[in-house]
Amino acid sequence: MDYKSKELREEALALKLHHRGPCVYFRGLIEISNKCCKNCLYCGIRSGNRGVERYEMSDEEVMREALFAHEAGYGSVAIQGGERCDSQFVERITRLVHNIHKQYGLGITLSLGEQPLQVYKEWFAAGASRYLLRIEASNPDLYRLIHPDDGQGRHSYDSRVSALHDLKSAGYLLGSGVMIGLPFQTYAHLEEDLQFLKKIGVDMAGMGPYIPHKDTPLGKIVEFWKSGNSSLEILPADLQALAMLPRGDFWNFSDDRLLDLSIDMVARLRILMPHINIAATTALQVLNPDGREMALLSGANVIMPNMTETEFRGNYSLYEGKQGVADDAAATRDSLLLNLDKLGIPVGWREKGDWRQV
Ligand code: 5AD
Ligand code: SF4
Repeated sequence: MDYKSKELREEALALKLHHRGPCVYFRGLIEISNKCCKNCLYCGIRSGNRGVERYEMSDEEVMREALFAHEAGYGSVAIQGGERCDSQFVERITRLVHNIHKQYGLGITLSLGEQPLQVYKEWFAAGASRYLLRIEASNPDLYRLIHPDDGQGRHSYDSRVSALHDLKSAGYLLGSGVMIGLPFQTYAHLEEDLQFLKKIGVDMAGMGPYIPHKDTPLGKIVEFWKSGNSSLEILPADLQALAMLPRGDFWNFSDDRLLDLSIDMVARLRILMPHINIAATTALQVLNPDGREMALLSGANVIMPNMTETEFRGNYSLYEGKQGVADDAAATRDSLLLNLDKLGIPVGWREKGDWRQV
């Protein structure tokens, strides 16, 4: 790491300690379903990936995980899943949020994609207080490249930005974030991302490295670039035009460089927004087993320990190399606690750890 980066991280850590204290806050992660109606070019569970076995947890399974969080002393849960908007799904989430809130009094974060304002309001009224919706890439041109028009209006940049405003007006603590190291992405894009998060006034942020998945269009393009093969014909026809575009600044970064870049982004966001919650994201663990802990020492103050039952974990694979897929909720907790203990990072047991009340 160069000197500049070391100073940046030290400043970020000092700001976190000053504004938010030493604790890391847990949001126990429930990956409720990998069914998704979207087709983002980077994501392993995109609707176009026929190779994925689709699952949906039962209400009992979700409640069992919420009970685990309650008993383990996690202050909050995060329910995350692919985007769906049928009324059955909406009602089910309302019911689950209501029950978790009533039975266990846990903080509830939702991460269930773009929804109509009315749905955000319904889930908020049921007891959810935070919502995560990453802008993914704040530059509209880059956003459109990795979310091409699906003919059904689902991939619109403007709708994404409106959704963030809707979430705020529905009363949530708003979380957003971006991927770092995407094909076509440049340093200038990352600059824009930081300014975007600041301007929209997020309460929480999650930024993680982009990790290619081989069964996705972007994964195939990166593989093609790295192979050094000059014959575009080996790519499916619809990807050839994309593969000829300028590749951006990061496509051939090593894991170590991408990790450094990602940690520096966390540090810079902490400096820009000293009061917010910043997650040490799971994707960092793919680049380095201690990636999340490095983020905690550079400004992050939230971790989402996976509580998803082992049988489903492997199928919720947004990217390759996901860690801990053979573990259960207790094993995940134990190894995380061991690491945090080694680093002397205290856990905010039973605390929600929000920077402001909603
Ligand atoms: N690499 C890293 N992050 C990814 N996500 C989806 N696919 C990938 C990938 N290949 C992230 C997106 C999404 C979050 C749930 O996971 O940012 O918002
Ligand atoms: Fe669906 Fe989210 Fe994956 Fe896009 S990133 S395909 S919305 S799960």
